Amino acid sequence: MDRILIRGGQPLRGTIRIGGAKNAALPLMAASLLTKDTLSLSNLPDLVDITTMAKLLGELGVDVARDPKANVPDAGQVFRLTAGDIINTTAPYDLVRRMRASVLVLGPLLARRGRARVSLPGGCAIGTRPVDLHLKALRQLGARIDLAEGYIDAHAENGLIGTHIVFPMVTVGGTENLLMAASLAKGRTVLANAAREPEVTDLARCLIAMGAKIEGIGTDTLVVDGVSSLSGASYAVVPDRIETGTYAIAAAITGGELMLEGARADLSQAVFKVLSSAGVEITEKNGGLSVAHTNGPLVGVDVMTEPYPGFPTDMQAQLMALMAVSGGASMITESIFENRFMHVPELCRMGADINVHGASAIVRGVKKLSGAQVMATDLRASVSLVLAGLAAEGETVVNRVYHLDRGYERLDDKLKACGASVQRIAG
Ligand code: EPZ
Repeated sequence: MDRILIRGGQPLRGTIRIGGAKNAALPLMAASLLTKDTLSLSNLPDLVDITTMAKLLGELGVDVARDPKANVPDAGQVFRLTAGDIINTTAPYDLVRRMRASVLVLGPLLARRGRARVSLPGGCAIGTRPVDLHLKALRQLGARIDLAEGYIDAHAENGLIGTHIVFPMVTVGGTENLLMAASLAKGRTVLANAAREPEVTDLARCLIAMGAKIEGIGTDTLVVDGVSSLSGASYAVVPDRIETGTYAIAAAITGGELMLEGARADLSQAVFKVLSSAGVEITEKNGGLSVAHTNGPLVGVDVMTEPYPGFPTDMQAQLMALMAVSGGASMITESIFENRFMHVPELCRMGADINVHGASAIVRGVKKLSGAQVMATDLRASVSLVLAGLAAEGETVVNRVYHLDRGYERLDDKLKACGASVQRIAG
């Protein structure tokens, strides 16, 4: 298993290109199942999760053609996905186990083929993460769903029928599965208390380009008028707001200055509000964002994670690394997942002063972190340790780099190009 060795203390300076959002790309790829025509997706990040989704779609019968000309480093990949015939409607345990987002094939398979068998994802490092709300809403559209032998066994041979669905809590994946299913259902579906995340909006826009009829985009009520078929389209994936926020913190935590090329401020308002309050300077410039922290100590800010447009849970661990070296105290409350503080003991091993009380962590800033051997159990926790390592005195070794490879494209190269001392150790 690869590790990353970081020698901390170098202020980062330079330009980093922000790639396409992983969490937008995955549902967009699943949407290819909704049409027999070709869906051409550009600005796809080159990540392990994207490869896993391509493999799953391939098993279902989707022809996944990568455009070799477009695949130059840092320019985003182009995939042409053609689901002429769906030869198989089963998403097997082995792939779903590796990537929970595999469950996003459930809605499209059911809508297009009237049949889907998808392994139940099970819990993961950040929480129990059930998919009960996806299933309840699909049942409301008329699907018959049984759970047997670890699989979701769903049928809708006579098609899905639009209805009024109220999600009892905001679910990103649930909203995405239902948007895709409702696009091919008979009649009108209303999705109330729908997720408003930019990745959901991206999916809705792509579905519209494919011929779907969706209103209320960007609000918590999506109205979908089902159509009998969808067609192909070309669509570019939205820039990754979590990658943007992560590198913004890399600039701040090292006292450096980074130009984040292609980053969009409108997607990260809540994060930038917090970073600005902490003392980070963020300016929109030449189609990107300049992020700097060059004078004085940063100050602690209280934050609670919330569904969009609130502060994203996917930025909580990274912010905690920054707060660990800011002046004063900060209270960070995690309201989305019940077990997303796995980075806390590792940050404490690097000298951070953090106490967890239920869903809140009190972070008291320290002057310096010190390098250590650390490891984490999920993607964002891992990257928070990389950020801490960039600011720490001495050497930090982050183990289990495969978590980072699932969600950060060429992280080590991008950091190195901006002056960080980062080395990937194979094995
Ligand atoms: C998406 O996960 C993201 N993943 C996550 O990113 C992100 O943390 C999360 O949304 C919240 O923003 C992808 O987009 C691929 P949810 P998702 O359904 O869709 C509970 C990362 O690091 N819930 O919005 O699985 C659930 O347990 C990842 O990139 C139910 O109880 O999240 C959680 O507490 C990690 N029943 C909350 O809702 C359900 O049926 C929000 O989950 C569905 C969800």
